[in-house]
Amino acid sequence: MNIILLGPPGAGKGTQSAMLVEGRGMRQLSTGDMLRAAVKAETEVGLRAKAVMERGELVSDEIVSALIDAELAAMAPETGAIFDGYPRTEAQAVSLDQILASHGRTLAHVIELAVDEEALVDRITGRFTCARCGEGYHDRYKLPEKEGTCDKCGSHEFKRRPDDNEETVRTRMAEYRAKTAPILPYYEQRDLVRRVDGMAAIDEVSAAIEGILG
Ligand code: AP5
Repeated sequence: MNIILLGPPGAGKGTQSAMLVEGRGMRQLSTGDMLRAAVKAETEVGLRAKAVMERGELVSDEIVSALIDAELAAMAPETGAIFDGYPRTEAQAVSLDQILASHGRTLAHVIELAVDEEALVDRITGRFTCARCGEGYHDRYKLPEKEGTCDKCGSHEFKRRPDDNEETVRTRMAEYRAKTAPILPYYEQRDLVRRVDGMAAIDEVSAAIEGILG
């Protein structure tokens, strides 16, 4: 099964993707994670993307669609894909259809995480992750069980994203409103969109998504 998780920055796409990977053995394809890895490795793509990401704007459609195509080409056909943070523009949505077809895949659902934007600023500015395994946490909503120790791998090092400051978050949200939200009708006309209350507790959001996937 291939699904898209759609929602503004901080809606919980990464959080819910990780739960689906754990529970269902699906594969998370996050263009944000791929781009951050490219920035860290200082590849050509990373060098082109770095400043754009720091401003909270969108990286070019060609770059992100090529990343997704390469990941799908390397995946076992029976493994389901979770598209997290992709597509983000109408051009990317059209590309995704072509890419899926070329790999013999179809789209089962587009799950929209419906959220209150103001609450998201709070969510994002409180977010941090384990520097070793990437497990996600939050200053108030999801602290490690033992203070200063990652629940998953035991590391004591944590990090915060450079684009998780209020000013950049506001730009990221404006980009979402202007370029990403308008792709919903593209999927609505094919009856693929399922809405979930992204303001509910993490486990409740997960249960709602499980209900959709069946
Ligand atoms: P990307 O990495 O995709 O970031 P984003 O879309 O801004 O989304 P986030 O990762 O910030 O949020 P999320 O929805 O995953 O929330 P999370 O689960 O972490 O993109 C970054 C940049 O890369 C973009 O700005 C752009 O420059 C570039 N880029 C990426 N893809 C691109 C593309 N396709 N085209 C062009 N450019 C692209 O949750 C947030 C926090 O809230 C966490 O701390 C979590 O613990 C907490 N939380 C989650 N759910 C709940 C809940 N239900 N209740 C309470 N707390 C919760």
